Formats: sequence, C-alpha cells, structure tokens
Amino acid sequence: MSIISKDISKAIQLLTAEDIVAIPTETVYGLAGNIYSEKAIKAIFETKKRPFFNPLIVHIPSIDKLSDIVEYIPKKAQLLAEAFWPGPITLVLKKKAIIPDLITGGKDTVAVRVPNHPITLELLRQLPFPLAAPSANPFSSISPTTAAHVETYFKDTIKMVLDGGACTSGIESTIIGFENDDPIIYRLGSTALEDIEAIVGKIKIKNMATERSQNNKEISPDAPGMLERHYAPKTTTILTDNIPTTLDKYKEKRIGLITFQSQIENNAIEVQIALSKSGDLAESASKLYDVLHQLDKMYLDVIIAEKFPDYGLGKSINDRLTRATKN
Ligand code: TXA
Ligand code: MG
Repeated sequence: MSIISKDISKAIQLLTAEDIVAIPTETVYGLAGNIYSEKAIKAIFETKKRPFFNPLIVHIPSIDKLSDIVEYIPKKAQLLAEAFWPGPITLVLKKKAIIPDLITGGKDTVAVRVPNHPITLELLRQLPFPLAAPSANPFSSISPTTAAHVETYFKDTIKMVLDGGACTSGIESTIIGFENDDPIIYRLGSTALEDIEAIVGKIKIKNMATERSQNNKEISPDAPGMLERHYAPKTTTILTDNIPTTLDKYKEKRIGLITFQSQIENNAIEVQIALSKSGDLAESASKLYDVLHQLDKMYLDVIIAEKFPDYGLGKSINDRLTRATKN
C-alpha cells in the first residue's frame, strides 16, 4: 500500500506520537519530526543514515516564533527574514538553551526557516512544536522533489509522505550564517545571491563545492553538511562547459545529456533533456532533481550536464551539479 497521503490530521497524529513524516516544502521534501522528541530526531538520523555531526533545520510557521528558538537576532537577519519568509532562506543563529544538542550537532547555533508551502504551513500552525526536517533522501543522494521520490527511498522505513505536489523551487534553501553580525552564505540555494545582496549588500560565500576542492576537503566547522559529494546520482555524472568535446570523449558510452536550453544533434546521445527551452533559470532549478532521478533510473553509463550561466539561480544549479560529479 502506498504511504503517500494528503491527510494532514494523520500527519499530526503521527508527529504528536513522536513518529516521523515526510512533508512537502517549496524547495524539496523534508523528513520531519518534533524537535523536542529525542525518539523522533534519532529516527530521522537513522532513516537517512546521516551522521550525527550534521545538524538539522528547524521549521517554524511564522517569523514571530523565531525568538522562541534563537537567543539573538542580528539586524541583517531580521531584514532577511522579513524580506524572504515564508521562503527558501535558512538563517543560522545563536540557539536558545531549550534547543536540543541532537538538532544542532552539538553546536551553539541553530538553522531555522519558515517554509513557503500552504500544506506544511498549515501543519506547523496546528502543531504545538516546530519540526526538524532535513531533505527526505538517504545521506548524499539526490533530494526528493515529489512525494513519489520519497516513497521510492523510504517506503519500507517511514509510515507517511504528506503529499503537497511537486516542489515549486526544486533546490534546497539558501543557508546564511552570521559572523560579527554580518551575513555569510554557507550554502547557495533557491534564493538567488543577487536577491539577498539587494537586501543586505555584498555578501561572502563560504564552503561552496568549488572552494572546498581547493581547501583540502576538510569538514568545515561552520557548515558541517557541506560535504563535497552530495545530491549525487548513482550514475557517473560530469559537468562541462564544452559539450561537443565531452560527447566525443564518451561517444562509445550510453550518454544522458542535461542542457539548459539547447537541443544537441549528436548520435552518441541516448537521451537528452533541456531544463528550460525558454532559458528560465527558476524553471531549470525546479526540474533539476526530477530529471536527475529520471536519468539515474535508465542504466546509462554517464550523465553529462551542461554548466549553467554563473549568475542568479544558475550559480546554485552549478553548485549542486558540481557536488553531483564528485565520487
Ligand atoms: O530547503 C531546505 O533547506 C530543506 C527543506 C526540507 O527545508 N532542508 C534541507 O535540510 O536541505 P538538510 O538537512 O538536507 O540540509 C541542511 C543543511 C546541512 O548541510 C547542515 O549541515 C546545515 O544545514 N546546518 C544545519 N544547522 C546548521 C548549523 N547550526 N550551522 C551550520 N550549518 C547548519
Ligand atoms: Mg540534504
């Protein structure tokens, strides 16, 4: 029997009983549990096979609940929350003592956001506790953007996926931490860098996949989840800014090609998908993971992805594709 259901009251029942439920957000589906339940939080880590040092994001229904979770809100954090919540920005701030160490990997900061999805906002409003929710995928594999993706991963290990349709943004939230009250991007995501800079001015980016490869691949204490290989299909994946040369190199192989806009004429390609024929970066982001899920099921030898323009959501897409190429 399918674990996918639209029944919010059933989700409330399970979550209240310290069980875990996959929930929709505008970015990706999350695997949710009561932040104050040790049983639920442990179940999240175990189900995902995620190491305990990698902390979880706390989801709240509205900005006025932020001060229940964090000790102190820097001015620029307040501005960002007001500008983008509900929406795909996560703020990492000094935690209140009430937030369990299990949520934060023992750190004194906590990641928080208000997701922009009507069903999950309704769920959060009805529950007397916030929800911790990492993306609902096994550790380091492709994040889920439909209820069916989650079901494929976890049908034997969780009781319910709350169905909220396909995620509209399609890549994870942008994560912003603070050093001396100044914002720093820990993870690029569904809110474009330029939109953030329009609110708080020029902003530093730390721990992008590209920077990390120059940085000896150590785990960063600031953004412990920013591992090099992440969001990765099982099929070998290659990111290129020169499609003809890369196609030529793999021409004896079964090739799946992901492009931004273009259709390529080349007999070596077994299947190709353009993420947005009209050149829309937001449309491309919303489709990216679903296309990776699809191609990963096709027993291809290699997935070749075209490098996106390095601005707006193109930057975030390139970040995910870069991580997907690591072994
Ligand atoms: O869009 C999203 O953010 C989705 C949806 C479900 O909300 N969630 C998500 O969660 O992507 P997850 O767990 O897959 O990624 C959360 C990232 C991890 O890389 C983690 O290391 C980082 O947030 N993080 C959490 N707490 C942190 C903290 N206190 N300091 C630094 N990084 C933190
Ligand atoms: Mg994740």
